[in-house]
Amino acid sequence: MTDTLESQAGEVLLEVDHVTLRFGGVVALNDVDFHIKKGEILGLIGPNGAGKTTCFNAMTGVYRPTEGEIRFDGQQISGRKPHHITALGIARTFQNIRLFPEMTALENVMVGTDARHKTSVLGALFKVWPRVRVDDVDLPRNRVKRAFSQTFGVSRHYAEERAGRRVAMGLLRFVGVADRANELAKNLPYGYQRRLEIARAMATEPKLLCLDEPAAGFNPAEKEELMGLIRKIRDRGLTVLLIEHDMRLVMGVTDRIVVLEFGTKIADGVPSEVARNPKVIAAYLGEPDDAA
Ligand SMILES: Nc1ncnc2c1ncn2[C@@H]1O[C@H](COP(=O)(O)OP(=O)(O)OP(=O)(O)O)[C@@H](O)[C@H]1O
Ligand SMILES: [Mg+2]
Repeated sequence: MTDTLESQAGEVLLEVDHVTLRFGGVVALNDVDFHIKKGEILGLIGPNGAGKTTCFNAMTGVYRPTEGEIRFDGQQISGRKPHHITALGIARTFQNIRLFPEMTALENVMVGTDARHKTSVLGALFKVWPRVRVDDVDLPRNRVKRAFSQTFGVSRHYAEERAGRRVAMGLLRFVGVADRANELAKNLPYGYQRRLEIARAMATEPKLLCLDEPAAGFNPAEKEELMGLIRKIRDRGLTVLLIEHDMRLVMGVTDRIVVLEFGTKIADGVPSEVARNPKVIAAYLGEPDDAA
């Protein structure tokens, strides 16, 4: 652990403060209260429909809590727009993969780095230019493009695009997708798409990375690899919130686990405590609490 991480350890990064979220008559989150500390890998588990994804949606500005507050790095974020929350440092992946299917792996990650760029509007305009590929910086079309940009005083866009490409390639290497950087996202194998989503989320330079069932559909070897990747992400200084159904994976990689059932928090503790908790066992076995 670095000095910085050690000095950060124990500081609260995100607080979900008595959050209730209703959809009409459905109470998706019921007075949910938990926090995440800097440098932690926190598991968020619970049966189907327990409110896990809704919790991510509330944290990332997709939904505004009906009651309660969410604070991140000392700031109130509940009800703020998703792009503000991304800029503050929360990134997520989706339970159902959401990539730009007609863009390459590299371009998908560069979209993430764009969230940090000052010239991203120009960047968006320049997306109509020829497809970005690795190692094509000196192609004639790029010289033309660069000359055009400089003429119009937008050379910063160029510097940012080059930096973005470097960062994106680094992230593709980090998640193990670099060998397919130039392939369209839609043509990548499923496991690559899942890891590409993680790289794209990391490209926004988050402090907190929220992963919604990143191992769904993985075989045991892929799950093992993913556990290694999650640890590496934390070792880079990120805090991780992980929704996952695979108990072996959750127990093996998290520092602490919060359990939801029907929108209510029923447990919060280290994996060994949570695994022994009768309420958790009942929730997973589908038995009423008082049947034990
Ligand atoms: N937009 C919405 N409109 C109405 N109800 C919703 C909406 N989003 C979620 N819900 C409801 O909120 C509850 C919690 O759903 P959520 O998707 O958060 O569960 P989950 O824990 O992520 O489940 P899973 O493990 O199946 O992904 C469910 O009853 C769901 O039907
Ligand atoms: Mg879900």
